[in-house]
Amino acid sequence: MAESILIEGTTRSEKYESLLNQLKILIGDEQDLISILSNTTAAIKETFGFFWIGFYIVRGEVLKLGPFQGSLACMEIGLGRGVCGTSWKNKETLVVPNVDEFPGHIACSSLSKSEIVVPILKGDTVIAVLDIDSTLIADFTETDANYLNQLCQWLSIYF
Ligand code: SME
Repeated sequence: MAESILIEGTTRSEKYESLLNQLKILIGDEQDLISILSNTTAAIKETFGFFWIGFYIVRGEVLKLGPFQGSLACMEIGLGRGVCGTSWKNKETLVVPNVDEFPGHIACSSLSKSEIVVPILKGDTVIAVLDIDSTLIADFTETDANYLNQLCQWLSIYF
């Protein structure tokens, strides 16, 4: 198995295209969810260097911390709490340009300035969310939302 991925392109869109193609190859016929999610966070980290990338997985009434790359994070988030819990509750992608302006934002690190959270759905039910934090204000746009939604749709088959 490859120990690194070769990302081509200069724009963020080009890098996402390359990342998604590389990830499909990297994962190949792997079926283990933890392995897949772990290497997905590592591949996103290698491609973009974002501050924090991780999955929170629905376990009953809460989101539990799953595979991630970055600093220590809260292990449990309730429905409707913070950006992740709101994305879960509303079943929608949230792009937050300034986390300090998001009511109820859960600050795991003061270095995190902007954030995107994408729900992963099975049918009509959210089963996990992908959370990415940046140290830059307004680092995420519709481009990130579009590509990360593609990624999350694809990942949903492994749950
Ligand atoms: N910022 C998140 C909490 C998780 S950490 O950032 C890793 C939120 O408000 O949902």
